[in-house]
Parts: sequence; structure tokens; C-alpha cells
Amino acid sequence: MSASEAPSASELDTLVARAAAAFAQAGTPADLENAKAQYLGKTGHLTTLMKGLAALSVEEKKARGAAINQAKQAVEAALNARRQALADAELARQLQAEALDVTLPGRQRGAGGLHPVSLAWERIEQIFGSMGFDVADGPEIESDWFNFTALGNPPNHPARSMQDTFYVDMQDADGQPYCLRTHTSPMQIRYATAHAKRHAAELTAGRMREIRVIAPGRTYRVDNDATHSPMFHQVEGLWLGENVSFKDLKAVYLDFCKTFFETDDLALRFRPSYFPFTEPSAEIDIQFQSGPLAGKWLEVSGSGQVHPQVVRNMGLDPERFIGFAFGSGIDRLAMLRYGVSDLRQFFDGDVRFLQQFA
Ligand code: DAH
Repeated sequence: MSASEAPSASELDTLVARAAAAFAQAGTPADLENAKAQYLGKTGHLTTLMKGLAALSVEEKKARGAAINQAKQAVEAALNARRQALADAELARQLQAEALDVTLPGRQRGAGGLHPVSLAWERIEQIFGSMGFDVADGPEIESDWFNFTALGNPPNHPARSMQDTFYVDMQDADGQPYCLRTHTSPMQIRYATAHAKRHAAELTAGRMREIRVIAPGRTYRVDNDATHSPMFHQVEGLWLGENVSFKDLKAVYLDFCKTFFETDDLALRFRPSYFPFTEPSAEIDIQFQSGPLAGKWLEVSGSGQVHPQVVRNMGLDPERFIGFAFGSGIDRLAMLRYGVSDLRQFFDGDVRFLQQFA
């Protein structure tokens, strides 16, 4: 069919059908626009037919023009229908891709929490703080002097074997190796020595400045089983002044335990023991009167009256500074408080265990 010849009605129908088929084949909007150009574009079939009308008579123009226009409208209708179908399909695809399952459980940011040992540690600081104790801390890599000798435990003393020690490849001025502190007791010497220096003028003038301090922290020993870990936590306590006695130790420690374990139903006893830095020395045992641990004596702390030589090593007068010290395992206190039977659970880092305390 050339442009100058007038198309027959069936030719126009065929054209419309071909256009509709071409549109139906177009899988994307871009394909569809290309197909459209072939029929409705500047050189498209229908446009060419329209141009061809110019050569016809007025009568023919009327009749053919109307027929071509009808065909053009049919093609446009098919085009619009296909456009809509493609848009609908695209929307459906997007909805499918972005579908939300509103029945899924919500996602939450996990709330962090303090480790049970930290909880116990904070509790200890808070309770002793309320009883007027200062809180001190010091180095975990400790010299032989502070960890042993100043505490009445010189080299070759048999009591050194009480604590299996990690040594560090580094020596102090006396040629003694540094160690990872085996207990928090060196803090007694460090704190009291600083105290003696700080208040030297008042002390020489005969005035009393009591020492009341706790020193919680990490400690280390070559030890590893269900109740011992190479790294563990202790809290040291020291109260030195005029006439501070075992009676005060018992009152303070019992009070601490009652608050820490949140029960008044608690008994406390001293059991004779030995430590090189106290004389006399005692283990402190407690007994719950009710609850799962009721009736058992549980060892919670070493303690004793601070040895006069240790007081001298602090730079203080042992005739005036008399009192007690204690050293308790924080992990042990936490185990008793939270009913944990294996110490290693504290250090395994298993979230299922830890989140119970969050
Ligand atoms: N330092 C001792 C230990 O770890 C515990 C201890 C006992 C501390 C008696 C003291 C004390 O202050 O008076 O085995």
C-alpha cells in the first residue's frame, strides 16, 4: 500500500491488528515507545496515510480521512491499554519486591547490662562507701615489695607457696621480679604509705587520721578449676585507727553481708587461720539460715589484725595504728549471691548466661 493510494477498510483493520500485536509484544515501556513510533511517529504508517490524503479529492478525503482517523484512534487505544498494562505489571512487581510481612516479630536493639561480677563489685563499693570507706585501686603488675615482702612475706618465706604466682620478666631495683599481683593486699601498703605521707604533719603533731579503705580489683594466680580462675577478683579492706578491734571487724563485715545478700538471717564466725600480714588471723565464714544454702558454713574472706611490722612498713606507728584487714573474693560473693555454681561461667562470655543479669 503506497501513500498515494487510499487504503481499503480491511487494510486499515489489518494495520490496527498489527499495531496491537506489536504493542502486545513490547515487554518494556521503551519497546512500546519504539513500536508506537512505527505507527504513530512522524514516518509511521498512519502518519504516512494521513499525508497521502492530500492527493485525493474533497469527497474521498472526507470518507478516507474519517476511516484513517478511526484506525488511528483504535491504535492509540491499544497503545494506551498496553501502557497501562505495563505500568500495572511494574507496580505489582514493586509491591511484591517490597512486601512487608507484618506478622514477623519486631526487631529490637538488645539492651546491654553489667556483668554479674561488675554488679557485685559496684554493690560492694556502694555498701562500704556508705560505711565511710574510701575506694582505692592500684597496679596489677606489682613489685615483690608490695605484693610480698612488705606484707611480712620476704623471699624464701614458706608462706610464699600459699600463692602460686605469675612472674613478669622484669626486675625491680632489688633484683626481684615483678609479678601479677596475687591478691589485693599490696593496696594496704600503697594506700597507707600515701596516707602516712599526706598527713605526716598532723600525725607527728600527735593527731589521729584513721584509715578506712577498700580496694577492689583483679588478681592473678596459677590456678584453674570450677572454683578457681587464673584471673579473679578480690576486695581488700583496711581499717586502722585507735582501738579498732575484731569487734569492729565483726560488726562491719556482718553488716556488709546482710546488706549484700539482702537478709538479716545470717550468722558469721571467725575460724583461726594464718596469714603473714595479720596476727591473729582468721577466716570469715557465713551461714544463711534460710534459702538454698541454709545451714552450710561458707568461707567468704581472710582477715585479721594487721601485724605491727606491716604497720611499720606503711610508715605508721604500730602503737597507735591498730586495726583489721580483710580480703574477700568478689567472684565468690557474686556466686553466692546469684546462685552460680561454676566460677568459669563468669568468664566464658556466653550471652545466654550473662543476659540473665541484664
Ligand atoms: N590476701 C589474702 C589472700 O589472698 C586474703 C587476706 C587475708 C587479706 C587476711 C587480708 C587479711 O587483708 O587480713 O589469700
